[in-house]
Amino acid sequence: MAAGRQLPGLKALITGASSGIGLATSRLLAARGASVVGTGRDEAALAAAGLREASGPFVATLARDLTDPGAPAAVVAAAAGALGGLDLVVSNAGSGWSGRFEDMSPAEIDAVLDINLRSAVHLAHAAAPWLRASAGPGQLILVGSIAGLLGVPEEAVYSTAKAALRGLANSLRGEWRPITITLVSPGVVDTPFFARRNRPYARSWPRPIAVNRVASAIVSSVEHRQSEVIVPAWLTLPARLAGGLPSLYAKMSQRWG
Ligand SMILES: NC(=O)c1ccc[n+]([C@@H]2O[C@H](COP(=O)([O-])OP(=O)(O)OC[C@H]3O[C@@H](n4cnc5c(N)ncnc54)[C@H](OP(=O)(O)O)[C@@H]3O)[C@@H](O)[C@H]2O)c1
Repeated sequence: MAAGRQLPGLKALITGASSGIGLATSRLLAARGASVVGTGRDEAALAAAGLREASGPFVATLARDLTDPGAPAAVVAAAAGALGGLDLVVSNAGSGWSGRFEDMSPAEIDAVLDINLRSAVHLAHAAAPWLRASAGPGQLILVGSIAGLLGVPEEAVYSTAKAALRGLANSLRGEWRPITITLVSPGVVDTPFFARRNRPYARSWPRPIAVNRVASAIVSSVEHRQSEVIVPAWLTLPARLAGGLPSLYAKMSQRWG
């Protein structure tokens, strides 16, 4: 692959940076010289990851619940203030819910949509003027999921929220040129995600991949301004099948169980 974009001095905001994919991505970006503001709800976890002067990844951290009204805009404003602008926004905060669709309470439906979709849309909205002002030009990364590309049984609302990020990415690509819009769709990743949702991951296959594989793929998408990342790459095949021939995919996935 051709030599990529240089990262020293890149001004980056990453949500969901207190754990898992967001924390690993923050560490990799900071190691390449980017200035990273990380957000999460868990102030102690953000503090434990550390500020740059203590060899941590963060220039500054912000503890906010992104589902609170106005929180995404407040986080963007604070990060841009701390960094003197924004070149990269990684909308990564998210959480899951697993089980039969009709067993979800209305409050659980709202909670899944709020963090995985509503807050991501508001974050992108608030980031627009900063990414437009970036000389880079700017880049927005939306961390979706393979669930959003396939539609996973017993993850209906989560899949719906992540699928909607596909629509956001496609729309903004048309509106926001020359800003890069990247949709990252990971498969099953070894993070606290499953232990924190209502039901742990119980399948024997596919096996979770290491979090650093996803973080490396995200950093590579920054260096090379990629617009689509599916990790691991073999999931591109079922994603294409589900997108192009959904009835055939439904029949085949029933056989796979
Ligand atoms: N793990 C997987 O298999 C997998 C697969 C595909 C896609 N993804 C997606 O990858 C992203 C990161 O997940 P992960 O695997 O790294 O899970 P994780 O380790 O549980 O991390 C989730 C992050 O999101 C933050 N977050 C959750 N709810 C929030 C809220 N209401 N307000 C603010 N921050 C909130 C958490 O902050 P606190 O801990 O501070 O509350 C944490 O930093 C999510 O969007 C997830 O849907 C994960």
